[in-house]
Amino acid sequence: MSNGRVIGSDAVEEARQKGRLIVEVMPGDIVTALARESAQRIGLKLVEGPIEMAAPVRTDGSTAMRRALYRRAPKWQAPTRVVRKARRLGKLALIGAGGVGGNIAHLASMADMAEEIVLIDIAPGAAAATALDLNHASGITGAVGRCIGGESLNMVAGAEVVVVTAGRARSPGMTRADLIDVNARVIRAAGEAIRSEAPNAVVIVVTNPLDEMTVEMLNATGFPRERVLGMAGTLDSSRFRHALALAAGVSPADVEAITLGSHGEEMAPIPSRTRIKGRPLEIFLSADQIAVCVNDAISGGGQVVALKKSGSATIAPAHASIELINHMLGARTGPVPVSVMLQGEYGVDGVVLGVPAHLGQGGLIRVDEMRITADEQAALHTAAEAIRTRLGL
Ligand code: LAC
Repeated sequence: MSNGRVIGSDAVEEARQKGRLIVEVMPGDIVTALARESAQRIGLKLVEGPIEMAAPVRTDGSTAMRRALYRRAPKWQAPTRVVRKARRLGKLALIGAGGVGGNIAHLASMADMAEEIVLIDIAPGAAAATALDLNHASGITGAVGRCIGGESLNMVAGAEVVVVTAGRARSPGMTRADLIDVNARVIRAAGEAIRSEAPNAVVIVVTNPLDEMTVEMLNATGFPRERVLGMAGTLDSSRFRHALALAAGVSPADVEAITLGSHGEEMAPIPSRTRIKGRPLEIFLSADQIAVCVNDAISGGGQVVALKKSGSATIAPAHASIELINHMLGARTGPVPVSVMLQGEYGVDGVVLGVPAHLGQGGLIRVDEMRITADEQAALHTAAEAIRTRLGL
């Protein structure tokens, strides 16, 4: 009896604040009249103790720790997931407003990638027409980025990213390499304008022959290799994935595949790094089937040209260009195939070639030197030599 407590109205108030529904009264405790009154008022029960407690659940240490960490207290809140927020460009400039340029503008505008999307094309009215057309769609799509089109290369001024698609496309029977002379002139003019008007831009070259034109762009701008990228591997890998998914009867989303080397005859799809549903390719496909898929990736662009008769693919190349910008802006992470000037990576030096790389705001962060087989490595070297020869290096 001697150790009984006095339970006053303050103890009742404290129990209420803690969210309790009862106050335990042990033998010997004294409950004041005021405490009884306030307990009744707030609906809190005074219960004769000792109250029998449920035996603690016996469990292992890590479960106990998890329970302790995530116990639901009145203030408990579910941990919020951190969502990656991609950066938005101030100005995206597109030199070339044909099929690829127009589709890039469309996708970029739908993704709200830039405050301003500028389309430039020498064909009178072509870029302005596409820009106006895109702006007209904004009443439905709600796209907020402004599109502007014109003929002057000076419109690249201040762009953070410039995508160059200008130049002649292939006709049936032509290889990409057949375009080298005519398109090099286009690239030089574009590169000079970029150098003076958008000196801090990252340039993505799409004009063919891709690897050779990326070298021309490096020379014309004088930019470091980090800021002159060629779009090819993202497109070729997507074609490879499509072919593999079709052959294996799975969704393209179940296929991880990468294509390196040149964007041309010496393209190097990498079967050793290909996975279908996370498992090696050979589990799903025979060697012959794999060979057909490799060939489909290499000839995919040509197949579109053959069907169209004039002009080449426009939709997949636009998506592939957007993929690179997404990697730069942080909307996508991990390595992505891109054509860059190699400085000893994969044993290749002084030539532009498609390799996996990490990209950021300033373009190339670093080339990812993944493990490939000796045959695949040899294919990369063959591609490098072919490009060197075509450029007379
Ligand atoms: C293609 C062109 C864009 O591969 O090179 O479709």
